[in-house]
Amino acid sequence: MQMQVQAATMVNLSPLFIFLLLTTIWLVPVICDGVDSCQYSSAVGDPGMRRDGLRVALEAWNFCNEVGEEVPGMGSPRAADCFDLSESSLSHKVTELDNKLGVGKAFPGLSPKAKNDPDLYAAEKELYLGSLCEVDDTPRPWQFWMIMLKNGNYDTKSGLCPENGKKVPPFKPGRFPCFGKGCMNQPILFHQPTSLFDDDIMKGGFNGTYELGSTTDSSSSSFFEVLWEKKVGTGGWVFKHTLRTSKSYPWLMLYLRADATKGFSGGYHYDTRGMLKTLPESPKFKVKLTLDVKRGGGPKSQFYLIDIGSCWKNNGAPCDGDVLTDVTRYSEMIINPDTPAWCSPTNIGNCPPFHITPNNTKIYRNNTSHFPYSAYHYYCAPGNAEHLEKPYSTCDPYSNPQAQELLQLLPHPIWADYGYPTKQGHGWVGDGRTWELDVGGLSSRLYFYQDPSSPPARRIWTSLDVGTEIFVSDKDEVAEWTLSDFDVLLAS
Ligand SMILES: *[C@@H]1O[C@H](CO)[C@@H](O)[C@H](O)[C@H]1NC(C)=O
Ligand SMILES: *[C@@H]1O[C@H](CO)[C@@H](O)[C@H](O)[C@H]1NC(C)=O
Ligand SMILES: *[C@@H]1O[C@H](CO)[C@@H](O)[C@H](O)[C@H]1NC(C)=O
Ligand SMILES: *[C@@H]1O[C@H](CO)[C@@H](O)[C@H](O)[C@H]1NC(C)=O
Repeated sequence: MQMQVQAATMVNLSPLFIFLLLTTIWLVPVICDGVDSCQYSSAVGDPGMRRDGLRVALEAWNFCNEVGEEVPGMGSPRAADCFDLSESSLSHKVTELDNKLGVGKAFPGLSPKAKNDPDLYAAEKELYLGSLCEVDDTPRPWQFWMIMLKNGNYDTKSGLCPENGKKVPPFKPGRFPCFGKGCMNQPILFHQPTSLFDDDIMKGGFNGTYELGSTTDSSSSSFFEVLWEKKVGTGGWVFKHTLRTSKSYPWLMLYLRADATKGFSGGYHYDTRGMLKTLPESPKFKVKLTLDVKRGGGPKSQFYLIDIGSCWKNNGAPCDGDVLTDVTRYSEMIINPDTPAWCSPTNIGNCPPFHITPNNTKIYRNNTSHFPYSAYHYYCAPGNAEHLEKPYSTCDPYSNPQAQELLQLLPHPIWADYGYPTKQGHGWVGDGRTWELDVGGLSSRLYFYQDPSSPPARRIWTSLDVGTEIFVSDKDEVAEWTLSDFDVLLAS
């Protein structure tokens, strides 16, 4: 359509202009790169991860997305690696002293109430690191890609995590993994600041373990690592991830996220920093990325291609930080073919109440001859929803600072229109590929709970992430994957 307009206006222009226009038209297919992306602009600060001057940060969360307690000597679990490249040298924006900042230590902007509170301190440290990494841009500045690491242990005797946002007293253990006092600890973190190798290869990384007093080399300890690498001036960054569970830490999560640059990102009830200089809204956006899973992480590894997170209230209003009424909403496709559909004709309580087809036909979950049961792993409703249709399953009330809702999908032919995996095994080990996912289109037709007759919430996504959640493994498991070319494309 754009090209027709240009051709029509060419008629009374000078030969030079005609030449320029022809050049433009000629270049269009090259610029669009097969994405039919002429009408798309990028929502991220670093489209396709191609910028030499990398911006990447790491955050570690305990079971309810807080810190709880810092590990002595490690500082607050927020760190960053941000630099500019000029004349073959890297000038880092964040020092190791910045990365090691922990409770009690001052930094510019730190509020008195956060100084000795590990949870608030981490949130404000993220803002501080963001200020060091910030890149000016239109429509607004951005800060970094975010590596998110989470330990799923929950010591129910600690009283640390609220229940659907409400403070609750300690309760009897048994429901969650925990080896005893201290099981919710933050990890030991090592940083290899990005540096230049052989004149033109830039490499850096973070790694570590949850076993305090252990080294990262001990094979019986948990391990996580994200290494990044890029050739100067060409191509994009490749992020290589490794995650290993252990007997003491059988439930671990490692994602790379494009988060909001302000407001709340998925599952986070503090002001955040990130990469999404514009927030994508359903249905008009796509996500492009290259994923190569090398090792799956065992049968419990819920590998997400892709996980999207946001927050809105059951009445459709946007979240405002009131944890009693805010609800974190997630949807994710799990590509590990070992993941069964818990949703089935005999377990409709694990299914969303209905499915909506690409041509907007609603199919109820009791319609056994038409509902696509095997396209859904599990649906759970927010614990604070007041008008749920029976039967239903409510989500874990402790693992987010507020109530949450989860819609987990599996590869299935019904997702074909959106460019998602359509068959078990797609995108899995040995099937590395570049995906162009119509995340906006799909997420506009997913079921999310709202109170009857409330105006539909605007589906604005504050976090888009790829990675795995090894969900209580029976033995030590290792997942390994690379992620590159990440971009979020907004349709204009
Ligand atoms: C973790 O990173 C540190 C520092 O970069 C490095 O010395 C160590 O070998 C790494 N551990 C593993 C197991 O790769
Ligand atoms: C919707 O699409 C399905 C297949 O994708 C087709 O079978 C059905 O006839 C369509 N319904 C309408 C109302 O267009
Ligand atoms: C199926 O579910 C819908 C929506 O909940 C309901 O209106 C309908 O009566 C149900 N049909 C049967 C046969 O149970
Ligand atoms: C089940 O879904 C199909 C396809 O949308 C529809 O034609 C049919 O009427 C539905 N059956 C019931 C009982 O709702």
